[in-house]
Amino acid sequence: MEILPNFSLKKYNSFGIEAKAKQFIAVHSTEDLKTILQENKSQRKFILGGGSNMLLTKDIDALVIHIDLKSKKIIEEDDNFVWVESQAGENWHEFVLWTIDQNFGGLENMSLIPGNVGTTPIQNIGAYGTEIKDTFVSCTAMTIENQKNKTFTKDECHFGYRESVFKNEAKDQYVITSVVFKLTKRNHKINTSYGDISLELEKNNITNPSLKDVSNAVIAIRQSKLPDPKELGNSGSFFKNPILLKSDFEKIHQEFPEMKYFDISETQVKVPAGWLIEQAGFKGKRFGDAGIHKNQALVLVNYGNATGQEILNISKDIQETIFKTFGIRIEAEVNVI
Ligand code: EPU
Repeated sequence: MEILPNFSLKKYNSFGIEAKAKQFIAVHSTEDLKTILQENKSQRKFILGGGSNMLLTKDIDALVIHIDLKSKKIIEEDDNFVWVESQAGENWHEFVLWTIDQNFGGLENMSLIPGNVGTTPIQNIGAYGTEIKDTFVSCTAMTIENQKNKTFTKDECHFGYRESVFKNEAKDQYVITSVVFKLTKRNHKINTSYGDISLELEKNNITNPSLKDVSNAVIAIRQSKLPDPKELGNSGSFFKNPILLKSDFEKIHQEFPEMKYFDISETQVKVPAGWLIEQAGFKGKRFGDAGIHKNQALVLVNYGNATGQEILNISKDIQETIFKTFGIRIEAEVNVI
């Protein structure tokens, strides 16, 4: 195992931002991870997964440990369900396709989300009406401080909308090394209720969709709206959709009756930040090499040589304008480093 000094992270973050790690190492086994953590106790450390949910605004003055643990397997099954375990470094989309190929149901709506399996619990990734908390069983994590393994059950993860214990109480204390999901072997719960999916299936005259059909529909929708990070640097949704109290929302809605919204409980409403950003006139705008995507205003993009600071400045400008225009605060979803 070789620690590399002054290492460019451009290929390790989906925004494609040029920033340097003071030191960098990729670990391919939990034993190596343990050794590296033990041998570098006094060093500042930064854990890097797929790099698909972060904005680098500066060089990282730390030992960057890239989690590249691979393998996925069935660990248990009965007539109806299968429990699959994936190591943290597996690419999420390849993992999803592997489950669909075996006709295991539950992850199909989350096809083509960038990133690695190990980071999915951190922000409870989700798309098209499904979140990983719906199939998540547990994850194993190693403490950075003393290299003990701990299993987090679903309850212990405190999942919320793009939220978990790993963004709060447990922040910066653990490296997630593997995740277990419980998937269906039959009686799949096909979920096409998210508008775009049913439209896409109708377009292809599919009335009784298989897991693969749903996955293909999601892939087609994502490809039509969301830029491929390999072609245009981005980190998916840059902001979370804001959640408002119904009573607050109703006042705003009177002033902006065309505002889109989704009821999420008796007292709360979610407003699509993409709609707010589009109405505020930012969609498709470009400032130097940084911009707002033309098909989905929630996605900020790097046209080539944008700095993290330039993208951060645009995000702040958007937040201020949205607040001035609608009185709504929107929060970043990506981790700003
Ligand atoms: N909208 C606009 N203009 C835009 C974008 C969206 O008016 O530029 C409106 C749409 O017309 C629609 C509503 O906003 O009525 C919702 O749009 P969409 O279905 O594209 O979803 P989203 O709420 O913008 C969320 C997730 C995405 C996920 C999609 C589909 C968050 C922060 N984002 O986006 O997740 O793919 O739903 O489920 O919750 C990600 O987290 O990186 C991500 C891409």
